[in-house]
Amino acid sequence: MRRGEKGILIVMAVVVGGAMIKNVIGDFSVNKERDREIPFYSTMSQDEGQKALRMMDENHCKDCHYLWGTNASIMQNVPAPRLDGIGSIRDGKWFYDYLSAKNPQSILPSRLKKEFQMPSYANLPEADRREMANYLASLKVKNWYLTETRKDEFEKLTGKTYQP
Ligand code: HEC
Repeated sequence: MRRGEKGILIVMAVVVGGAMIKNVIGDFSVNKERDREIPFYSTMSQDEGQKALRMMDENHCKDCHYLWGTNASIMQNVPAPRLDGIGSIRDGKWFYDYLSAKNPQSILPSRLKKEFQMPSYANLPEADRREMANYLASLKVKNWYLTETRKDEFEKLTGKTYQP
């Protein structure tokens, strides 16, 4: 192996290793991070949210989505919407219907290739879909944005007219 190639390998090892460490640390620090002055919060207590969060892990939601500032892997780059704060623009019924849909893209059209799109969770037990829907509805974003920004974001995301 030539010297240049060795150098490249070492740089790659550092980058990949660093990324893996960041991921692990990121996962351990999730709970602590939550209490910081971040704009996202849940109206549920951490204990109440635990069951739903475990279900979301089991169903690999974080393979594609960010939640509490982390996803499953920084190698995974699916441009799925962040779930932080999502309950500020949609409610529990919407989430339940969405998770229960055989074809979620009939509710929310996709811009992505099939393999990256939101999968159907219609086959999960009803109680699990409800639990996750309630949790998603509890994820809020702080009301510290300009009214104009909130209005623009809401209308862009929902296509509906914003009423404060
Ligand atoms: C394979 C990647 C993938 C997985 C796994 C996945 N999602 Fe999604 N999700 C997406 C994408 C992409 C979208 C945007 C719509 C689309 O392109 O189909 C989306 C949309 C959503 C939305 C609507 C967001 C909005 O803007 O209103 C919610 C809520 C959601 N997902 C929750 C979940 C939950 C909960 C799970 C786990 C049970 C999950 N997703 C698993 C990719 C994924």
